[in-house]
Amino acid sequence: MTDTGPVYLDYAATTPLGPEVLEAMRPWLEGLAGNPASAHAVGRHAAAAVAQARARVAGALGASADEIVWTSGATEADNLAIKGAARHQHARGRGDHLVTLATEHRAVLASCEALEHEGFTVTRVPPESDGSVSAGAVAAAMTARTVLVSVSAVNNETGVTPDLAAIAERVKGHGALLHVDAAQALGRVPLDVSGLPADLVSLSAHKCYGPQGVGALYVRRRPRVRLMPLLHGGGQEGGLRPGTVPVAQVVGMGAAVARCVRNAARDGRHLEALRGRLLAGLAEIGGVILNGRRDGSPHIVNVSFPGVHGAALAGLLDGLAVSAGSACEAAVPAPSHVLRAMGRPDALAHASLRLSLGGPTTAGEVDRAVAVIGAAVGHLRGFSPVWQRLAAGETIQSVYGTRTPLVSI
Ligand SMILES: Cc1ncc(COP(=O)(O)O)c(C=O)c1O
Repeated sequence: MTDTGPVYLDYAATTPLGPEVLEAMRPWLEGLAGNPASAHAVGRHAAAAVAQARARVAGALGASADEIVWTSGATEADNLAIKGAARHQHARGRGDHLVTLATEHRAVLASCEALEHEGFTVTRVPPESDGSVSAGAVAAAMTARTVLVSVSAVNNETGVTPDLAAIAERVKGHGALLHVDAAQALGRVPLDVSGLPADLVSLSAHKCYGPQGVGALYVRRRPRVRLMPLLHGGGQEGGLRPGTVPVAQVVGMGAAVARCVRNAARDGRHLEALRGRLLAGLAEIGGVILNGRRDGSPHIVNVSFPGVHGAALAGLLDGLAVSAGSACEAAVPAPSHVLRAMGRPDALAHASLRLSLGGPTTAGEVDRAVAVIGAAVGHLRGFSPVWQRLAAGETIQSVYGTRTPLVSI
C-alpha cells in the first residue's frame, strides 16, 4: 500500500497474491496447462506440477500427498468434510449427532444446518465471553450418537485459538471424527496432523497469499477416513472431488503454502509486533472492548467501541479497509453471530471492527488506522448519550443491559 492509498487491514478476508506465487503460476496461465488426467506428455507435465503442489500442501501439515484432496476453497472443504463424513458414518449405522461451536464460520454452521434437514441433530457449544471454548465443554456436548466434531483452528472473527490437542484427545476418546477448519491457521499458528489426531482439515489458498478459488481438504488415511462425495463425475481426486484439477490454481496454492512454511517464524514475529502496536494504539482511544484473547492468532484483533453507533462508525472509516464482523457476511446487516454468541449486546456488536494484519502491513499503516479510528470514535462519542453515561461512571454492563464481563484493552 502507498502512503496515500487505503490502509488494508482485512487479511483475514483475503490476502494479496505473493509475488513468488504469481511467478509459479505464470507458465500455467500464459502457456498450455494440460489436463493432468491426460495420458500424453502435456498431461503428464501438468500432473507432475499438481503432484509437486500436493506434496507441498501435505508437507505443511505433516501429512502425506495421498491425503490431500483439492477443492475450490475452504467452504467446499468444510462442506465435503462435514456432510461427507456425517453421511458416511450414518449410512454405517454409527450415529446421527454432530458437535460444533456456535462461533464457527458460516460454511461450517450452514453445512451442519443442511444435515439437520436430513434428520441429524447438532449441538452448537457456546463460547465464554472471551470467545474461548474448553475441551471439557466440547466433551460434555458429545453423546453416544456423535459421529463428528467440527472446530476451527483459528476463529476468523476473533482470532481465538482453541486447545486443539485437548479437544482432539476428548473426541478420539469418544470414538468420533474430528474436523478442523484451518482456513485462518496456515502460516499463522502451527498445525501438524502427525502430532494432532485430526481426521479432516480444511484449507484455503487465498488466506495465505495464494489465489482465490482453490483450497484443499486433508483426509486421514491411517486409520482411513471415508467420505461420501458431494459431486459425481470423472473420478478425479479418488472420486472424492471429481472435475478437472485447475493446474495454475493448485500450483499457486502449493507455492503459497511453501512460502508460509518457510517464513512462519519471521511472519509470526512481524504479526506479533504489529498486533502489540495496534492494541496499544487502540487502548489509548479509551473504553475499547477486546472481543477475543491476547493469546489468539497474531493476525486478528476484534474490538467494540461503547458509546458509538456502528453504522455511523463504518461511514467515517473512509480510507480504511477493515471488516465489521465477518467479510463473508458483509451483505447481511445482522450483527455478527460470533459476537452475539460471546454475549455482546447487538448495539455493541454493531459497533465492532475486525482488524486483520498481514505480511505487507507496516507500523505506519497501523498508526494511520488507529488515528482514523480514534478520530471517528472521538467524534461520535462527542454527541452520544450512551458515552455521557459511561463518562459519568455508569458501567458498560448497566448501560448496555448485559451481565457479560467485558474487558477493556
Ligand atoms: C474459518 C474460515 N472457514 C472458511 C472460510 C471460507 O473460505 P473460502 O473463501 O476459501 O471458501 C473462511 C473465509 O472467510 C474462513 O475464515
